[in-house]
Amino acid sequence: MASERELMRVVETRASVRRFRQDPIPDEVLKKILWSAVRAPTAGGRENWFFVVVKSSEMRAKIHRLIIDSHIRYARDIAKMPSERIEKWRKLMEEGMYLAPLYIAVYIDMSRLTSAGEADVFNSEFIMEVQSAAAAMENAILTSWSLGIGSVWLGAPLLLEEEFRMLLDMPREYKLMGILALGYPLETPSPRRRKPLEEVFKVL
Ligand SMILES: Cc1cc2nc3c(=O)[nH]c(=O)nc-3n(C[C@H](O)[C@H](O)[C@H](O)COP(=O)(O)O)c2cc1C
Repeated sequence: MASERELMRVVETRASVRRFRQDPIPDEVLKKILWSAVRAPTAGGRENWFFVVVKSSEMRAKIHRLIIDSHIRYARDIAKMPSERIEKWRKLMEEGMYLAPLYIAVYIDMSRLTSAGEADVFNSEFIMEVQSAAAAMENAILTSWSLGIGSVWLGAPLLLEEEFRMLLDMPREYKLMGILALGYPLETPSPRRRKPLEEVFKVL
């Protein structure tokens, strides 16, 4: 069993990686990553998650295109970045940022929700399914890092959910939770700073 120190080291050193070597991730390694994802806590023991693994170069190129488009949309509509900054980012992405040897898109099946399946932010059942999918994604990220594989959690694709759904051939009742881009790192980003702990907790 991994010692506490090993787990803490994985948590402490992990940082999002956005540039990857294009060498494939071996299937045995992929299996470990997926296995760890489904070991995550899951609300009601429901395991309402589905993983679309993308390995082929043709599909990866198409996903990368959509990832670029979704980030441009995010930059423009949500982050409200100035256009010069968006163009700089576009160039970095066209040059290979986010192009990974492996993508894992994470979905939940909305038809399994007893509350009629509306993706309503106030629907507790929906929130719990989202959180379960997120826990699976984090397990996959940490396991990957422990195996020397970098990753970045991508939420921007939610802005082009329908385009991703068509590309990945997913039924309409499945809702995209996020995409993980994974690969051996081409960069070694240092762990990013966090707010001081004292700012984000209280003890009663
Ligand atoms: C829900 C969620 C969505 C995210 N979406 C994106 C994204 O679309 N593109 C991206 O480059 N990073 C994305 N990230 C990664 C964050 O930018 C990153 O985790 C944050 O800047 C902290 O850096 P660190 O992961 O290196 O500690 C996302 C992270 C989370 C948890």
